[in-house]
Amino acid sequence: MIGQSIPFFAYSDVFRAHGDQYLEIIKDVACRGAFILQEDLSKFESKLAQFLGAKHALGVGNATDGLLLALRAAGLAPGDEVVLSSHTMVATAAAVHFAGGVPVPVECGADHLIDPEAVLAAITLRTRFIMPTQLNGRTCNMEHLQAIADQHGLTIVEDAAQALGSRFKGQCAGTFGAASAISFYPAKVLGCFGDGGAVITNDDAVFERVYQLRDHGRDRSGRVVSWGLNSRLDNLQAAILNFQLASYGEVMQRRRRLAALYTESLAAVPEVVLPPAPDSDPDHFDIYQNYEIEAERRDELKEYLKENGIGTLIQWGGQAIHHLKALGFTQTLSFTDHLFERLLMLPMNMSVTDEEVCYISEHIRRFYGR
Ligand SMILES: Cc1ncc(COP(=O)(O)O)c(C=O)c1O
Repeated sequence: MIGQSIPFFAYSDVFRAHGDQYLEIIKDVACRGAFILQEDLSKFESKLAQFLGAKHALGVGNATDGLLLALRAAGLAPGDEVVLSSHTMVATAAAVHFAGGVPVPVECGADHLIDPEAVLAAITLRTRFIMPTQLNGRTCNMEHLQAIADQHGLTIVEDAAQALGSRFKGQCAGTFGAASAISFYPAKVLGCFGDGGAVITNDDAVFERVYQLRDHGRDRSGRVVSWGLNSRLDNLQAAILNFQLASYGEVMQRRRRLAALYTESLAAVPEVVLPPAPDSDPDHFDIYQNYEIEAERRDELKEYLKENGIGTLIQWGGQAIHHLKALGFTQTLSFTDHLFERLLMLPMNMSVTDEEVCYISEHIRRFYGR
């Protein structure tokens, strides 16, 4: 029997799924008094790097800090312009701002990811970085972006907050540029019990700088050798993430199965545009952090689904970066504006059952009379 209430995301389910094991983990870490920069963290960092095929992973307080540290470590200087997609979280732009740079939002393409042509058009003499967001668990065409970066002497720092395990041509998101950051916010595919993040890099020098930046500028011997912040991933969170990472392959497969089911059950609804189905493009392996559709009469559909107990969400509260006038943005981005009138995220998480996807799809079909 299908419940008539399908929340967009139930935070308490994250714990409930493996409550007994989590209690054991919490007890074990607490009894050891292993709270800051302990072995659960270093174990997680090496497992994460191995999973991604990267040289280094460093746990940090959250992905926003991670992006800031990554930009600083990759050499951002005051006033440097960083081109990013307007379809991203304010955190992406805030990281640039607090690193001392100038965020320059540009159009996204029909795939909701940064439009390489718009990146090209935004390049000025002050541009130093491209910061693509690997949005919704899909990796950008990194060959295209890298070619632009190479041609113009720019550095790529990826916002891979939403994309752990997503791949382009077999390579994991987060491993393409000079550095990247991943988020372990509770609603992320790999989500801990609070804030958490990691910086990923293949560059030894960037690694050393982030190592110091996240811990008061201290080196391995504990000596202060540079200015630093305090942005460490808690050892307790790392222990929880170690447990989750062990079954991450199954989690990705489950989400891909849900996406395939949405594709199948919404195929005959021309009023909605769906994300690409799993395996529809051999270059992309998507992990479906979000299932973001485009819908005609979006607001009415959202209301109709709510009346039928189905939770949905409009990403970023419906505000793209260039809409944030309070932060000084003045760009006009008409394609992104058009998209933002249509975007809606359907439930996509480990609590959603196959039957619930069918129930949700049935209501979408009904709404459009299909
Ligand atoms: C695209 C994107 N960038 C950055 C962030 C910031 O991550 P955090 O909450 O870990 O700082 C998030 C998400 O939460 C995100 O979705």
